[in-house]
Amino acid sequence: MQSHWAARGRSFSAMLCLGIESSCDDCGAALVRDGRLVDQALASQTELHALFGGVVPELASREHYRSLGPLFDLLLQRNSISPGEIDLVAVTRGPGLLGSLLVGTAFAKALALSLSIPIIGVNHLHAHLLACGLEHDLNYPAMGLLVSGGHTRLYLIESPDRLTLLGRSIDDAAGEAFDKIGCALGLPYPAGGLIDQLAKTAQGGGAFPLPEPYPETLDFSFSGLKTAASLIIKKRPSLSGKERPEREKDLPAFCAALNRSISGVLARKLAAALDLHPECRAVWLAGGVAANSAVREKIQALARQRGLDFLAPSPALCADNAAMTAYAGALLGGMGYYHETDFETFPRGRKIPDDMLRRAK
Ligand code: KG4
Ligand code: ZN
Repeated sequence: MQSHWAARGRSFSAMLCLGIESSCDDCGAALVRDGRLVDQALASQTELHALFGGVVPELASREHYRSLGPLFDLLLQRNSISPGEIDLVAVTRGPGLLGSLLVGTAFAKALALSLSIPIIGVNHLHAHLLACGLEHDLNYPAMGLLVSGGHTRLYLIESPDRLTLLGRSIDDAAGEAFDKIGCALGLPYPAGGLIDQLAKTAQGGGAFPLPEPYPETLDFSFSGLKTAASLIIKKRPSLSGKERPEREKDLPAFCAALNRSISGVLARKLAAALDLHPECRAVWLAGGVAANSAVREKIQALARQRGLDFLAPSPALCADNAAMTAYAGALLGGMGYYHETDFETFPRGRKIPDDMLRRAK
């Protein structure tokens, strides 16, 4: 594959990188050139999975299989780009749903082989964080807080290829807590965004003292919060929809309490991690839950207090998307990294190996 770099003879800064994302229920293809997003095409499966109250893996992979080809065609046509102009393919290799990841990586590998261009398998969690660079200049070292549906993690980030994991969710992730508590409240899946909207309308209503679960390490645990919230919901019919007028007041108040609890835990953990790493110059916040208004406000306030830069993708780029995959791939490709086409995909829970190859300078 090394020879494919040479064959291109194009400077890395002018490189056109195609990104493919299919780790969960959102399918996407995006183009990044010179560190800037050219365009992206996305196919959301949210409505389909909402019928089942959560993502159905088998359905997700079938939808990716149906969507990817047309999305790729649409992206290229819309931008008058021919496949031969693509210099590098970046694809999410995990963590995610295995079947979904296999659809995306098989598509990307076939494309790279047919075009004789290099390919790079991208860590989805790293891509969420590196997506901060799509709209801001990245500065290192940074403390990265990744908050998504499946993961809550703290990373020390020294460069695009050096992210050291400092803390992680040991049970439910923050997004999972939002979604499961939302389900108990009778809200549609995924409930995080709706809970946030409701929280913004809170005026009075009941007082809901929710805990801020805080294990002593830099790890996160949100299952206790989920249990506490479920107990309150069971005791208060006004929350699960049985007493309409009260629900109109209590539900927003409860959602605001939930926003406070989760953003509070995240900020305290981040503060503890920053105490241990005073060398950090910036805080990067990313992942679907980074779109949450309380989380954004609290983390930004903490960064300001400490005189650190605060970077977070705009809300639309916090959720799963292919722009972040293309961007992360372009950064790593720019450093000379690539994979052979036999690289593997990794479901959630399996450690992704550091097995990128690097071309000779
Ligand atoms: O990063 P993401 O799109 O997918 C994963 O890789 O998991 O994150 C999805 C998660 C869901 O749990 C969703 O409920 C949550 O992000 N989410 C939010 C908000 N918007 C999305 N949670 C709280 N407040 C929001 N505004
Ligand atoms: Zn994600």
